[in-house]
Amino acid sequence: MKIFLNNRIPQNGIDLLKNNKLELIIPTDDHLSHEDWLKHCQSADVILNVGKNKFDKSFFDQCPNIKAIVLFSVGFDQVDVEEATRRGIPIGNTPEVLNKATSDVAFLLMQMVSRKVNYNIEKVKGGQWKDFDSMEALGQELYGKKLGILGLGRIGFEMAKKCRAAFDMKIIYHNRHHNHEAEQELDATYVSFEELLSQSDVISIHANYTPGEAGKFDKAAFEKMKSNAIFINTARGGFHNESDLLQAVQSGTIWGAGLDVTNPEPMHADNPLLQLPNVVILPHIGSATAEARAGMSRVAAENIIAFSKNLPMPSCANPDVYQQQM
Ligand code: DGY
Repeated sequence: MKIFLNNRIPQNGIDLLKNNKLELIIPTDDHLSHEDWLKHCQSADVILNVGKNKFDKSFFDQCPNIKAIVLFSVGFDQVDVEEATRRGIPIGNTPEVLNKATSDVAFLLMQMVSRKVNYNIEKVKGGQWKDFDSMEALGQELYGKKLGILGLGRIGFEMAKKCRAAFDMKIIYHNRHHNHEAEQELDATYVSFEELLSQSDVISIHANYTPGEAGKFDKAAFEKMKSNAIFINTARGGFHNESDLLQAVQSGTIWGAGLDVTNPEPMHADNPLLQLPNVVILPHIGSATAEARAGMSRVAAENIIAFSKNLPMPSCANPDVYQQQM
């Protein structure tokens, strides 16, 4: 079985595969061109994918021998999952192991925005730290405020838990389904999307991204939010319309924003959002801890090992694929 890995991952997953007599094909070139990447995919049975490569219908048409794709991520928005399922191709992903790390980043961004940390760091670096000024760069406190979560799944649950413990925040959420565990353990209240917008002091997105959600946070949505609202997106950049967000923060329609994801990625260094005092942008580091990445490496390897033994992948974005094989 030929397994193609397109970029580096922590060694523990590679060792696990080797111990199971599975060898990876790892190109020596760190930055493969699209053509070279495609050539590798065409000669592989399984792809262990790091990064944003797209697996759409045209990809599957060009790589008819692919039998499985294992993503080094929990998100699978770059895959046409319906098409993969139709072709009997399981799509592995890496949930759970990054819940804490990713929610930590949402929590961090929320605090950085509420206390204008970026602005203040720049002030110190730029030699602008002058005498004490009781009215300058005032932040807002988070104690007792309302956290609105879009997509209260595993990562959202961790974010809600931290916000309750640290700031006694009240949790409201909007989901496809009720999250009974969160309602019982965190006293979370299910609300409509409109209510989420109008009632939240902080809105944090933790939902799976699908093309139907593109630009869900647009001018109309920002206009329904409170003027003190902090918008946090650690999920996918496609959820927000960037120019509408810029306008909303610039005009004071909302207080500010913390983003770990942008659209496109990477964000260009001259993006005007980077100039705003109440905006913090991070370069998609949600799962970037040694612990989470080692966990992802292990889960990805376990998916491949299960596949090699004709067993269902333990972490699979399209488990239906196994129903249709039965
Ligand atoms: C994930 O795991 O989905 C992270 O966002 C990295 O893509």
